Amino acid sequence: MPPAATPVISAPDAAPEQPIQTTINDRFLDPNLDVERWKKNFEGESREVYAAREEVVAALDIKPGQSVADIGAGTGFYLWKFSESVGPSGRVYGVEISPRFLDRLRIDAKKYSNSIIVTGAERSIELPPDSVDLVFICDTYHHFEYPQTMLASIRRALRPGGSLVIIDFHRIEGKSSDWTLRHVRGGESVFQSEIEAAGFEFGERLDISGFTDNYMIRFRVGE
Ligand SMILES: C[S@@+](CC[C@H](N)C(=O)[O-])C[C@H]1O[C@@H](n2cnc3c(N)ncnc32)[C@H](O)[C@@H]1O
Repeated sequence: MPPAATPVISAPDAAPEQPIQTTINDRFLDPNLDVERWKKNFEGESREVYAAREEVVAALDIKPGQSVADIGAGTGFYLWKFSESVGPSGRVYGVEISPRFLDRLRIDAKKYSNSIIVTGAERSIELPPDSVDLVFICDTYHHFEYPQTMLASIRRALRPGGSLVIIDFHRIEGKSSDWTLRHVRGGESVFQSEIEAAGFEFGERLDISGFTDNYMIRFRVGE
């Protein structure tokens, strides 16, 4: 009797990513979020990423005519700086999931004709393929509930040779504040590994003199 044919089992589609955390954005999704309160919070000189904003923008080396996306734009203080850097021939996208921040960004965007405000999603930045030269993520990567799916969406949106720059918190057991240890799910090496696993190449660590609690890294996609 001939041997039974080996059954052909087709590989199932990759399982969708499970959320790594689920409640971290609740306060931003609140339809009654007090934007003025958050503006004070985000745009205070005691906040490193705000105080060092000029140095951060200089380090990004944005060129006129480029397209730049700020993912998790919040109250938009970086977005409006990018709008000036790219100039009238460039484009900036402010991507947010918070309905109240989106309302405010849309009002403020009227003063910046090269800006587009985009309603993002938990799993997607909702930008077209090959649409941006730089994706900037400040204090927001640790808010992603589906980091690998978001990174795939970012990679699709970046043009060949484009960059992803993230600013996030150092997270060091025994050294970082209790708030950071509770709130930020991973430190620099964890996030760097995740981003490299998504197909980005490490580019450079950008030294910002005003940073002690934060780091800034540029990753690249191939040409
Ligand atoms: C801590 S705030 C930082 C805001 C701003 N980048 C800053 O540094 O001032 C994090 C922001 O990320 C937004 N966010 C979280 N997940 C997001 C996603 N998947 N897509 C876009 N924005 C997201 C939140 O709504 C919130 O406004």
